Amino acid sequence: MYYKIDNINLFVSEQGTGQPILFIHGFPFNHTIWDRTCNILRNDFRVIAPDLRGLGQSELPDGWNITPMEQFADDLHFLLQTLGIGEKVIICGLSMGGYIVMQYARKYRNELAGLVLCNTKTVTDSPVVAENRRKQAAGLTDGTLELRSIADTMIPKLFAETTLKGKPEIVQELRAVIESNRSFGVAAATLGMAERLDTTELLGELEIPVLVVCGSEDQFSPPSEMKPLAEKAKHGTFVEIPNAGHLPPLEQPELFTNTLKKWILSLSR
Ligand code: MLT
Repeated sequence: MYYKIDNINLFVSEQGTGQPILFIHGFPFNHTIWDRTCNILRNDFRVIAPDLRGLGQSELPDGWNITPMEQFADDLHFLLQTLGIGEKVIICGLSMGGYIVMQYARKYRNELAGLVLCNTKTVTDSPVVAENRRKQAAGLTDGTLELRSIADTMIPKLFAETTLKGKPEIVQELRAVIESNRSFGVAAATLGMAERLDTTELLGELEIPVLVVCGSEDQFSPPSEMKPLAEKAKHGTFVEIPNAGHLPPLEQPELFTNTLKKWILSLSR
């Protein structure tokens, strides 16, 4: 279903009733990375998984060329208002989705019942990474870089060995997700990530519970970097998902979802 937010149509998958959970996808994906999680959790919770502006089926205004993480967070804040959600939400973000979760927490922390940070980080890009992102965005914009090449480069690093070898359908599914995006939306998100703010100190200030989930073989945000995030949070929990890389919701959907469900249920005890 589409909702008009800030004059653009955002596509949102919404199911179930009860405690609302907002799922924020990573880069350059769309809401379907949460399908398996939502299909399980919709029996007990209200699960909301949007396509972020410019990605998936969601629009980007004409001439728009950079989407800061704060803009994504604002879109989601207005989306929750539009959906009429009055109670506190749990927000769960994977990788770039985690950068957005932290911007959400910076601006709208009173709306939150808890945070889930999956395979993400709170630090900014190094100058080299930021420069590479700018080059990537330029190539996507002038047509010299195709999403297929981005998929080719990212895919071997995104998944655990067992997924690459034993679950080719998952790898294929993600390739299709990446390639179904539009270059301008991906470029805008890339530039937004390159200038995101550091949120490490903020994480240490939040009074809400924080679940930090990490695939044991994640090459982008390895357990050695993610465990300290749970330690930094005042009320942090760290869980490592075995046989998963950067995408536990796709690679180990049942284990990932059960971990999330158990943590959410523990909050109300
Ligand atoms: C993601 O999965 O969202 C990306 O790996 C994030 C990034 O490129 O920093």
